[in-house]
Amino acid sequence: MPLLTFEQARPLAKAIRQAVLTKKMPPWFADPSAGKFANDRSLSPSDIATLVSWADSGAKEGAKKDAPKPVAFVDGWTIGTPDVVIEMSKAFSVPASGTINYQYLIVPTGFTEDKWIQAAEFRPGNPAVVHHSSIYSREPDSSYAEGHAAGEFFELDNETPTTPRRRSTPLGRMFSAPDFPLHLQVFVPGGDAVVLPEGKARLVKAGSDVIFQVHYTTNGKPTLDKSRIGLVFAKKPPVERIKTVRIQNGAAIKIAPGDPDFRLESRVVVQHELKVIALQPHMHYRGRFFEYSVQYPSGESEVLLRVPKYDFHWQQTYYLSEPRLLPKGTILTVKAGWDNSANNPRNPDPKAPVKGGPQSWDEMMAGFMEIAFDPAYTSMDFFRDAPVQAASTK
Ligand code: HEM
Repeated sequence: MPLLTFEQARPLAKAIRQAVLTKKMPPWFADPSAGKFANDRSLSPSDIATLVSWADSGAKEGAKKDAPKPVAFVDGWTIGTPDVVIEMSKAFSVPASGTINYQYLIVPTGFTEDKWIQAAEFRPGNPAVVHHSSIYSREPDSSYAEGHAAGEFFELDNETPTTPRRRSTPLGRMFSAPDFPLHLQVFVPGGDAVVLPEGKARLVKAGSDVIFQVHYTTNGKPTLDKSRIGLVFAKKPPVERIKTVRIQNGAAIKIAPGDPDFRLESRVVVQHELKVIALQPHMHYRGRFFEYSVQYPSGESEVLLRVPKYDFHWQQTYYLSEPRLLPKGTILTVKAGWDNSANNPRNPDPKAPVKGGPQSWDEMMAGFMEIAFDPAYTSMDFFRDAPVQAASTK
């Protein structure tokens, strides 16, 4: 449903009016009363009024000369020429029909020294069948996906490292276990490549592997896909290291059949000064709300992001307009809620008891965060449990 030209938009005037008035479009899920985001694409009240009055007054075409220039779509790397392109070593055969579990493929980077990554871009080999992809780098001593050989496609039914070095707490929280692979890019069609500003970079250690995790969807014809990722190296060592971490609490998820309001809370204490750059709540079909808040050592507190109506089909990353510095001792609280009732239109089975797990019909409570920190800090021990509160805050 392209809306690039007048001819395309005109027949949809009524639907556009409705979509912008109800704020269904453009998609944006952050509560405007908490936090400001650099990628906020919601419309201002005056933009909404313009669109509504256009639809209400016959959806006429304006003067052609006032139209903005058509968008030029790039066909090639948007990050400039990559310093290295890592391609899937083998093509995946996508059948004509059926559902395909996420496919994993390990490709060694061959890096003989540590590399700082400034930009990363995934390019699907066959865009018609690549639904989305997460590309990770795995450090040489990680046990993630242990036992799977490089160069052969495999499936993982449990994404957690097999031998996490940091034992889970009784509530099963895991804070960016050192074993967990690092995100290089999450690709969705239409999404942007990752380009970090100068002075910020992600570390890929010597001897790391790239892991392609690809979700293929069939489209009626058998076909092949061989995707690749291009990386641009930072010209000099960064002032800040960027990493994706997550606060999670999967083991505590135990939702009774039909429960419309199951809630959990995770509280951690920051062990080393860091900056929060971006937030990405992740739950599955029954996810209902998500919130990140902080209490600074000064006693002041603020909500960083509140998503009052979480929607599994919009896995949005929220980039803070102003990164937040969390000094050592800051308490970070992540709250999440689920709706396992029949009133939740996404619910695949309101009669099922639901536990934590990797499949979309299991549940997850993963508060992803992009953080920036001093590259000299190597322990990766960023969070400890805050004094335990009731697991359920219902
Ligand atoms: C002012 C900007 C936008 C307008 C006027 C607009 C308009 C619309 C309309 C009229 C529909 C059909 C509504 C319906 O089914 O009830 C729709 C659906 C959709 N739009 Fe937009 N849209 C906008 C921005 C966006 C953006 C930025 C994205 C992607 C990031 C997007 C992705 C989608 C998708 C995926 C659907 C199908 C949703 C569904 O079936 O649930 N739209 N849009």
